[in-house]
Amino acid sequence: MSNSSKGPRFVLGVETSCDETCAAVLLHGKEVLSNIVSSQIEIHAEFGGIVPEIASRKHIEAINIVVKKAIKEADIDFDHIDGIAVTQGPGLVGSLVVGLSYAKACAFSSGKKITGVNHVHAHLLAPFLSEKGLRFPFTGLVVSGGHTSLYYVSDYLSFKPIGKTRDDAAGEAFDKVAKILGLPYPGGPVISRLSIEGDKDAFKFPRAMLPNSPFDFSFSGLKTAVLQAVKRLEKGKASIPLNDICASFQESVVDVLVKKTIMAAKECNCKNVVISGGVAANERLRYVMQKACEAEGLRLFYPDLSLCTDNAAMVALCGFHQIKEGILLGPEADVYSRIAFP
Ligand code: KG4
Ligand code: ZN
Repeated sequence: MSNSSKGPRFVLGVETSCDETCAAVLLHGKEVLSNIVSSQIEIHAEFGGIVPEIASRKHIEAINIVVKKAIKEADIDFDHIDGIAVTQGPGLVGSLVVGLSYAKACAFSSGKKITGVNHVHAHLLAPFLSEKGLRFPFTGLVVSGGHTSLYYVSDYLSFKPIGKTRDDAAGEAFDKVAKILGLPYPGGPVISRLSIEGDKDAFKFPRAMLPNSPFDFSFSGLKTAVLQAVKRLEKGKASIPLNDICASFQESVVDVLVKKTIMAAKECNCKNVVISGGVAANERLRYVMQKACEAEGLRLFYPDLSLCTDNAAMVALCGFHQIKEGILLGPEADVYSRIAFP
């Protein structure tokens, strides 16, 4: 049973914004009882990136199985669920529609509460599920395949955007550079692996610091610089030093992400810093960010690896707090592909 002052006891999270079909059950807004992720990566890898129509169709195939598995693994029945939290946006429209329609059908046929979650906000709250000691306010960097944004987060419901990418997201840059280098999709994990044996100073790739908008990002120039370097090497019939290119590229991304995040934390007067999203799984980013935070007397928090990339546990957490405050969806609710950003 739900208790309105304490919030819903069991929340079912549903996430289908991109290429992972996810469902999770969260107890008391804290304990992850199950967190199921069905990835489509192998299917999209064949095409070198996500094919939106295929993603939607695969969500349709997987969603019921994934939700049932999450409920079974949590060792409860559907009847026990007090509220449903579903990603409403931003993301791929066709993929979002599958999750939202499924969640609405479940909620309205059973009389359960339903809330729509912002995927980026869910990433920002994810560290609460695995880290102890994180307190508001914090400066949060969301770095994934679709987003690179800085936020000032002052409570579970208050997210103030302070900067974002003007072109490619950091993860997108990893994926595009991998493609240029003939490496598989997704690019992040493979580039990060190859970088270990590479010299990060071998290539001088650009760092877009954008002094007039210091909390915004731009990674398209960096991607072009890598492409030009590869073309130059190919023209001179030189072999491509994969490890060095990967390490130098990764260092450029990490350098910009760390400098801007620290600047934002200082500007917002935050002692706590969060990094989340798929790229936050990057070991070099975690290491350099940790060192930079220590040097500035800041505390760094990031989710467990399984909670960095897309998952429904973070959606359930965000939804728990929304349901607790009575922020609910009606039957007419629609998805949104982008977030309005100042
Ligand atoms: O958060 P996520 O699972 O999905 C989105 O919301 O986009 O992030 C996926 C992105 C991909 O672009 C992938 O290349 C990147 O995260 N990624 C990484 C690493 N692992 C995943 N990027 C850099 N280093 C990694 N270790
Ligand atoms: Zn994501």
